[in-house]
Amino acid sequence: MVKIGINPKETKGTISRYLYGQFAEHLGRCIYEGIWVGPDSPIPNTEGYRNDVLEALKKLQIPVLRWPGGCFADEYHWMDGIGPKSQRARMINNHWGGVEENNHFGTHEFLRLCELLETEPYINGNVGSGTVREMQQWVEYMTFDGESPMASLRKENGRGEPWRLPFFGVGNENWGCGGNMRPEYYADLYRQYSSYVRNYGDNRVYKIACGPNTDDYRWTEVLMREAHHLMDGLSLHYYTLPTGNWQGSKGSSTEFGVDEWFATMKNTLYMEELIVKHSAIMDKYDPEGKVGLIVDEWGGWYDVEPGTNPGFLYQQNTLRDALIAGVNLNIFHKYSKRVKMANIAQVVNVLQAMVLTEGDKMLLTPTYHVFDMFKVHQDAELLDVEFESPMYKHGSQMIPQLSVSASVDRKGAIHISLCNLHHAVSASVTCELNGVAGREVSGTMLTHSALNAHNTFRRPDELAPVPFTGAKLEDDWLHAELPPASVVVLTLK
Ligand code: AHR
Repeated sequence: MVKIGINPKETKGTISRYLYGQFAEHLGRCIYEGIWVGPDSPIPNTEGYRNDVLEALKKLQIPVLRWPGGCFADEYHWMDGIGPKSQRARMINNHWGGVEENNHFGTHEFLRLCELLETEPYINGNVGSGTVREMQQWVEYMTFDGESPMASLRKENGRGEPWRLPFFGVGNENWGCGGNMRPEYYADLYRQYSSYVRNYGDNRVYKIACGPNTDDYRWTEVLMREAHHLMDGLSLHYYTLPTGNWQGSKGSSTEFGVDEWFATMKNTLYMEELIVKHSAIMDKYDPEGKVGLIVDEWGGWYDVEPGTNPGFLYQQNTLRDALIAGVNLNIFHKYSKRVKMANIAQVVNVLQAMVLTEGDKMLLTPTYHVFDMFKVHQDAELLDVEFESPMYKHGSQMIPQLSVSASVDRKGAIHISLCNLHHAVSASVTCELNGVAGREVSGTMLTHSALNAHNTFRRPDELAPVPFTGAKLEDDWLHAELPPASVVVLTLK
C-alpha cells in the first residue's frame, strides 16, 4: 500500500500550459503528407491542411508549436518559402533523407496552421548557415506593423496584418547539426543574433538560446555566464533511448522485452536528474529564475519502422510510449518553476508522434491519449504531493515504481495523474486528501495486457483510454488500484 499525501491548500505555482507544447519539423512525413497535403489533394483538407489531423490536434489544445526544426532550422532560408508556390526555390533536405523540399509550406502556411489550431507559434531561426540580416528580416516580416520593406513584402504576399510571434529560437543544436560550435563561440553568436530579434509594435518575443545536449553541463555554464541577461529561455534536448546509446541499433519500437521496458523507464526518469542539475547551474547566474529551461525536444527514439526511409524517423508508438509521456509530463510539472516550456518530438509521423498517417488514414497513438488525458493540468495550480514510491526492481537495478502529480484547476477540480511503471506488479494507492471530503471521483485509464500494445491502421483503437473504476473515496481518503504498466488520471469534483 502506497500512501500519498496531497495538500489542496498548498499550491506550488502554475503548471504552464506550454509544458504541453509540440514540435513540427520538415522531416520525413511530418509536414508534407502528415499536416499539409495541398488544397488539390483528394485527402479531405481545409486550405491544404488535412482535416483529420487538424481535428485531432485541435482537441489536444496544443498551446505552442515549434517549427521548422530541429536540424532543418539551421539550413532553412525563410525567403525560399514565401510568395507564389510555383516560384519558390527548391532545396535538398540534407539532414533528413536527402529528399527535395519544395518550400510549399513556409511562413504563411505555418502561421495559418497555428491560427487553425489556436496555438502559439514558436519559430526557430537559422544561426548555423543564416545571416544576422536574414534573422532580423524574418522577425520584421512577421511582426512589423506599418511601413517597412519587409512589411510591404508580407502585404504583397497576401497578409496585411502582422502576426503575433511570441517565441523565437536563436539556432538549434548549435553544438551539433547547427554548426558544431563550442559554447564560447555560440554564446557570442547568440549575443549578436539575438540583438536583432526585435520587438516591433507591441509584439514581445521570448528569445530562446540553444541550450545543452543531455548532460553537457559546461554548455549551460558558459551560456548562462556569458548571455543569461539577453535570453528568456535556454533549451534542453534529451531523448529516451532504450539502449541509452546513439551508436548502433536503438531497438525496435514494438518488438521489445521486459529488459528493454525497464531500461526505457530508467532512461526516461533520467530527465529529472538533468533538469535538477541544469537548473542548479541556472540558479547560480539567475537566482530569480527569470530564464526558463525549455525542453524543446524530448521523447522516445527507436529504430525506424522496417522498410521505411531511415532518414524519416517514422516509428510506432506503444504502451511504453504512453508511460514515457506520463512520466515526463509529471516531471515537468514538478519543476515548473524553472521549466517553462516543453515540446515533444514530434507531432505527426516522426519519433514519438501524436498521430500517424498512411494515405488518407490517420490513427491516434497512445502518446496522444496521454496528452489528452493530462491536458486538465494545463495552467492549473500544482499541488504539493508527498509520497515515497515503492521500488521497481529488475535484476540488480531499481527505480521508483510510481510517478504522481496533482493540480487544482480554476474551477476547483483536483486532478491526479499516476503512472505505474512496473511491467507486472499493480500498485495499491491511498491518497490522503487533507480536507476535500464530500467530492466525487472519476477517472480515465490507459493500459493493456501487452506491453507493446499499439494502434495500427487496421486496429486503430487497440489501445484507447477507458473509464477507471478502481478508485473509491472514503471520507478524506482516496483508494485506487493501479494495474501494471498503466497511466491513470483521476478527477475530484
Ligand atoms: O527531432 C529530430 C532531431 O533531433 C532534430 O532535428 C534535432 O534537433 C535533434 O537532434
